[in-house]
Amino acid sequence: MTQSFEGNRVTEHTGTEFPIFQAPIGLISRGALVGAVSAAGGVGLMETAHMPMEEMQAEFDLVRARSNRPFGLHLMIPILAAKPEREAAVLDWVLDGRTRFVTTGYGDPTRHIKRIKDAGVTTYHLTDSLDEAVRAEDAGVDGVVLGGAEKGGGHSANGLHTFALLQKARRRLSIPIVATGGIVDGYGMAAAFALGAEGVWMGTRFITSAECPWHDNYKQAIVDAEEVIDIDMDLPIIPRKRAVRTPFAEAVARGEAGHRKNPYAGDTKRLFYEGATDQALVGCGESAVLIDEVKPAGDIVRQTVSEFWEVVTQLSNRR
Ligand SMILES: Cc1cc2nc3c(=O)[nH]c(=O)nc-3n(C[C@H](O)[C@H](O)[C@H](O)COP(=O)(O)O)c2cc1C
Repeated sequence: MTQSFEGNRVTEHTGTEFPIFQAPIGLISRGALVGAVSAAGGVGLMETAHMPMEEMQAEFDLVRARSNRPFGLHLMIPILAAKPEREAAVLDWVLDGRTRFVTTGYGDPTRHIKRIKDAGVTTYHLTDSLDEAVRAEDAGVDGVVLGGAEKGGGHSANGLHTFALLQKARRRLSIPIVATGGIVDGYGMAAAFALGAEGVWMGTRFITSAECPWHDNYKQAIVDAEEVIDIDMDLPIIPRKRAVRTPFAEAVARGEAGHRKNPYAGDTKRLFYEGATDQALVGCGESAVLIDEVKPAGDIVRQTVSEFWEVVTQLSNRR
C-alpha cells in the first residue's frame, strides 16, 4: 500500500505534508507549539483572538524561525466580533500575505468569507453543528472542521458524538471534513477517515505536548486522568465543558465551588502557569483518558501518521 497523502484534499488546501491539525487553543497556540507542528509536516494553527498586535507578530516570527513549512491562522469569530476595531486590524494583518490558509470558528463565517476569498486564501470553518457546516458550505468555505460531543473546550448537551456526526456529515457535505473530538493517535485518525473525514484536529493531545506553555502539573493531570467529568457551564459558546475529575471539578459540578462565568471556573493564571490544578478546571476532552505521556509535538504528528498507516494496513488484511 502506498503510504502517501497525495490526492488528499486537505493537504492540497493546507500545503502541508499531513492532514493533522493542532487545535488553535487560546493562550497555547503560539510560536513554539505552532512552529513544532508545522516543522513536523502537520497543520500548526496560530490563534489571533487574545494577543496584542505586536505580540502576535513576534509569535508569528517565532513560528517562521522554527519552520519554513506552511501553517495557518485561526479567527475565533465571537471573540473578535466583540471588539470591531481589533477585528478589523486582525483581518488586515492575517490577510496581508501571511498565510494561504485560515480557519474560522464558532460563529457565522459569512462575516469574513468574502474578504478571505478575495485575498486568495483558503478557509475552513470549525463548528459542532452539521446544519451550520451545511450553511458554511453554501456560503463558500473550502472545508469544515466538525466537533463531536466528546471533544474538549465546550460542547452542547445534545450535540452528536464523532461517530454519528461524521457519518451523517459525509452524506450531506461535498467539501472535505476534518474531524475533532476524541482523537489522539493513528487509531482515532484511521477511524475518522473510515467514517468520512480527510483530516483530524487534536486539542487535548497537543495540550500534553512538550511545547505547550501551560504548567507541567496541568499536563500531568491529563496523563494521570482515568476519568473526566462533564459540567454544565451555561456559557454562550461553552454550554457544557469537560475536565479532569478532580475534587475541585466535582465541587464545581455540584455548584459548591468556582464561578461559572469563567470557562475554567477558577484562577486560570495559577492553574496555567503555577500548576494549581486544585484552583480551576483542568479542561480536556474525553480523549484525556487515552493519553499516557507528554511528548514533543513533532513526535505526536509523526507517530500519529505512522500508526495511521499501520492501522490502515491491518484493517485491509482483517477478515
Ligand atoms: C482546554 C481546552 C481549551 C480549548 N480552547 C479552544 C479555543 O480557545 N479555541 C478553539 O477553537 N477551540 C478550543 N478548544 C477545542 C479544540 O479546538 C478541539 O476542538 C478539541 O480539543 C477537540 O477535542 P480533543 O480535546 O478530544 O482533541 C479547546 C479544547 C480544550 C481541551
